[in-house]
Order: sequence, then C-alpha cells, then structure tokens
Amino acid sequence: MSEIESNVLLTGESGTGKELVAEAIHNSSKKRRGNPYIAINCAAIPDSILESESFGYVKGVFTSAVRDKNGLFEAADKGTLFMDEIGDDTAQFQSKLLRVIESKEIRRVADTSAKQVDVRIIAATNKDIAKMALDGNFRSDLFYRLSVIDIKITPLRDRKEDIPLLLEYFLKDSVRQMGKNVTGISGEAKKILSAYDWPGNVRELKNSIERAVALTNNIVLNAEDFLLAQDHFRRRANAKN
Ligand SMILES: Nc1ncnc2c1ncn2[C@@H]1O[C@H](COP(=O)(O)OP(=O)(O)OP(=O)(O)O)[C@@H](O)[C@H]1O
Ligand SMILES: [Mg+2]
Repeated sequence: MSEIESNVLLTGESGTGKELVAEAIHNSSKKRRGNPYIAINCAAIPDSILESESFGYVKGVFTSAVRDKNGLFEAADKGTLFMDEIGDDTAQFQSKLLRVIESKEIRRVADTSAKQVDVRIIAATNKDIAKMALDGNFRSDLFYRLSVIDIKITPLRDRKEDIPLLLEYFLKDSVRQMGKNVTGISGEAKKILSAYDWPGNVRELKNSIERAVALTNNIVLNAEDFLLAQDHFRRRANAKN
C-alpha cells in the first residue's frame, strides 16, 4: 500500500500536543523523514514578514534585502512544513498559500520566475477553523486543501485515562533533568491530579510536575507539593492580568 502523503490539519486546544503529533507524522513518513522538518508560527510573525519568510525574496526588494533569500518552503523542500496557528493568517496570505498548494511552486517576493517545491503541509490551530470557513472568516477552498486528513486532538479532561501515564513520564523526565531524589507521587496526590480538568492540557500537567519536583524536599510528591505549584501558577497568571 502506498503511504498517504496528503496535507494534514491538526486541531485541538492549546497544550494538547499538536506540535508533537506533527513531528511524529513527519518522522513516520518514509519519503520525508530524512528530509527537513521546518516549523513556522504564523501568529508570531508580523503579516508584512510572513510572506517573505515563507516564500523568500530577491535582492533589492527591501532596503534590508542585500541578497536573495530562500523562504521556508524552499528550505522544507522534500520534507514537511509545520504551519502553526494557521487560523490567524490574513486573507492575503491565505490566497498566496492556496496558490502554492495548487501549483506546487513558489515565487519569491519580486521574483519573475517560479520554482517547483515538494512540501507536505501540516497545519495546526486551536481555533474552530471549520466554523471560520463556514462563516467566511477563513477561505473554504484553502481549508479543504489543508484538511485532507483532519486530526482532532482530544483535550486532556476527556481522556483522563492518559493522566497516570503522563504523570509517570514527566516525573521521570523532571527527576532526570534536575537530578533530584524523588521516587514517586503519593496516592492522594495522584487522585487529585487525575480528577483535575487541566484547562492547559498536557502542557499544564508537565509544568505542574516540573514545578513540584523543583520545589519539593519530599522523596514522594504529595498533594501539598502540587498545591504549591498551582499557587505559583495562579500568582503568575494574576500578575500578568
Ligand atoms: N502525549 C504526550 N507525551 C509527552 N509530552 C507531551 C504529550 N502531549 C503533549 N506533550 C508536551 O506538552 C507540551 C505542549 O504540547 P504542544 O506544544 O505540542 O501543544 P500544542 O497543541 O502545540 O499547543 P499550542 O496550541 O499552545 O501551541 C509540550 O512540551 C509537549 O512536548
Ligand atoms: Mg503548538
């Protein structure tokens, strides 16, 4: 059977593991895994720069363009481009992206010629992009091109059976990194952590364990170690607001 090589859309709340899934998809593709995997966060790059960052530019097009520059699509040729926060793209960038997907070629900003690229796009968003497309807030033709394979990542509160395994995994990882003598988590603490809704999903759980391991003097983490962690996060969130 030939491998499926379509574009993939990952949707799910913040912290559910979309980036991790994207990397796993790239690494499981026989065709692409030895080739570049490049990630771009569409929301973190100003609109004016996203296009030249993605497609490159030719010398002289801006005052700062002292030489030709490859874009990320060229850099990801034969590999995978992970486009995070795709729901934040402007209409202008969406139409350029659609053209690249349909033609399989890119044109650097101010370039007269186009270049073939072979890039698999894995896009991710924590927005309801299907609804955005229905409401006219995201190009529906682009949505269909990106979501050939549509993977929804479940929030942690709806797969609580994963919590014990994640606790164990992050505990081992934190202990190894910090070189502390912590051997486990008490039954009571596990119960509290398993019942909690984790609005920040796996990221929040990971941070809570790291914090508890860093601050504790106990060999077995107990409920108070985590309350300390929750307190710390609450204080930090309050300070931000
Ligand atoms: N199943 C898992 N096993 C181990 N670590 C995980 C798992 N899922 C998520 N993580 C870790 O949780 C953190 C958050 O994951 P990730 O960055 O992939 O979330 P995200 O869905 O991209 O969030 P955002 O929408 O905020 O960008 C990362 O540190 C990631 O390594
Ligand atoms: Mg992410």
